[in-house]
Amino acid sequence: MDKLYFGSNLKMYKTVRETVDFLTQMEALTKDIDRSGMELFILPSFTALDAAAKAVDPAYIRLGAQNMCWEEQGQFTGEISPLMLRELGLDLVMAGHSERRHVFGETDMEENRKVLSAVSHGMTALLCIGETAEDKRFSVSREVLRRQLKIGLFGVVQEDVSRIRVAYEPVWSIGTQGTPAEPAYVEEMHAEIQRCLEELFGEMAGEIPVLYGGSVNPQNAESLITLPSVDGLYVGRAAWQAENFNLLIRQAMQAAGKA
Ligand code: 13P
Repeated sequence: MDKLYFGSNLKMYKTVRETVDFLTQMEALTKDIDRSGMELFILPSFTALDAAAKAVDPAYIRLGAQNMCWEEQGQFTGEISPLMLRELGLDLVMAGHSERRHVFGETDMEENRKVLSAVSHGMTALLCIGETAEDKRFSVSREVLRRQLKIGLFGVVQEDVSRIRVAYEPVWSIGTQGTPAEPAYVEEMHAEIQRCLEELFGEMAGEIPVLYGGSVNPQNAESLITLPSVDGLYVGRAAWQAENFNLLIRQAMQAAGKA
C-alpha cells in the first residue's frame, strides 16, 4: 500500500476544549508531512465533533466518530445516526471497538449493520477486530478474526470495498492493562486477515488498509509499521499528547522509508 495510516481513538478522555487544542496542535505539528504518503485520522467524542470539524482542515486531519447507530432516525435513545454525522461533514466511523464489544456487549451482527449503514451513507467504516486472551490461549485467534471479518463485512459489495478499513486490535493488548503484541505474532494475524479479505473480496482486498492497534508506543512503533502486512498504526494512550503522537508518526514513517 502506498499510503501509511495513523489514527487515534480518543475514547472518553478529552473535553471539547481539550479536543480542539489537541487537534490544532496536531495539525500544526504535522502540516509539513506530505499527505499523499500518509493519512492522519482522529476520532473524538461525540460532544466534541462539531467544534472539532470547525477547527481542523480535513486536508490534514480526517475526523471520524467512535460509534454510530445503523438507523437514520427513530426510537433509539442515546444513539447517533449516520445522518447526524454526515450533517457535521464526517465521512469516517468506527465499528466494533473492543470496548464496544466487551464492555457494552455489542455483537458481530450489530457491527455488520453499522458497517453496511456507514457505506450506504457514503462513509468509510473502520471495523475493529481482535481476539481475547482466552481465545489466544485456546488457539482460536484465527477463527475469531475470521468470524469477526466474515460477519462484520457480510454484504459489503465490491463497489464499496474502498470504503472499508480494518484495525486488528487484540483485546489483551489494549489499554492500561494491555501488553504489547510481539511483531511476529502481529504479522501472523495480519497475514490471516489478508487471506480472509482476499477470500471475501478477491483482488479488491488489496485496497483495504489493515492497521494494528493495542499498546502502540514509541518503543514498538517502528517494528510494527515495518511489518509487511501492516498498513498503519491505530494508537490510544501514546497519541493523546500531540508532541508524542507527532514524534511517533515521524519515527514510524522514517522506519517505513516514507519520510
Ligand atoms: P491503547 O493504545 O491505549 O492500548 O489503545 C488502543 C486502542 O484501543 C485504539 O482503538
